[in-house]
Amino acid sequence: MAAVVAFVSQKGGVGKSTLSRAFAREAAAGGLSVKLADLDLQQGTSLDWGRVRLQAGIEPRISVEAFATAAQALAVADRFDVLILDGPARTSEATLAIARAADLVVQPTGPSLDDLKPAVREFHALVKAGIPKERLVFALNRIGTDAEEADARAYLEQAGYAVLAGCLVERPAYRHAQNLGQAVTETRYARLRERADVLIQNLIDRIG
Ligand SMILES: Nc1ncnc2c1ncn2[C@@H]1O[C@H](COP(=O)(O)OP(=O)(O)OP(=O)(O)O)[C@@H](O)[C@H]1O
Ligand SMILES: [Mg+2]
Repeated sequence: MAAVVAFVSQKGGVGKSTLSRAFAREAAAGGLSVKLADLDLQQGTSLDWGRVRLQAGIEPRISVEAFATAAQALAVADRFDVLILDGPARTSEATLAIARAADLVVQPTGPSLDDLKPAVREFHALVKAGIPKERLVFALNRIGTDAEEADARAYLEQAGYAVLAGCLVERPAYRHAQNLGQAVTETRYARLRERADVLIQNLIDRIG
């Protein structure tokens, strides 16, 4: 049975697909068999990315597939070491179903209070619905400075949640990489690769 890792948020555009892809890439590069499940049928952003990646011939190859529900994705879980659920935004019902299916639930968030407050509310709602707190972890994205990262981390930890080590800084190079079918851990800028890798390796350590 695969380790199931879900990326969720109520807010759109926080980095669910970005981190799903990077995690899929690094897990695959580490020799694990991976399925990246795109649960956003309307947008299909990870599906599109998977197609671009395949066309560009980028290794390791990553198997991306669309599923209508978390349950449908779970049905193929036993064929893989890792099943990654790239969740849709703005659907609390689907988010809960996805969280229930997952061994680890990752919520990316930006560092502003406008981002942090709803993000914490979202995890509180999952805990209230019966998801164990130990399964929930935040990932910091779109960070500008070290001070901003530290403040956001402190806010989330004070709210009682774990936060992955490292963060993604806000950089056009990360968008550019993904336009080419690469993960953010594959950008041609070594320093940005290394920074993204810290975050993703911390995640991989958690499913060990
Ligand atoms: N750290 C970053 N620096 C620059 N661009 C970023 C960063 N993180 C994400 N992006 C870009 O922001 C956009 C939204 O990111 P992404 O698609 O990962 O979010 P999402 O949470 O999956 O969105 P949705 O809710 O629509 O599914 C994408 O174009 C992505 O390339
Ligand atoms: Mg997405």
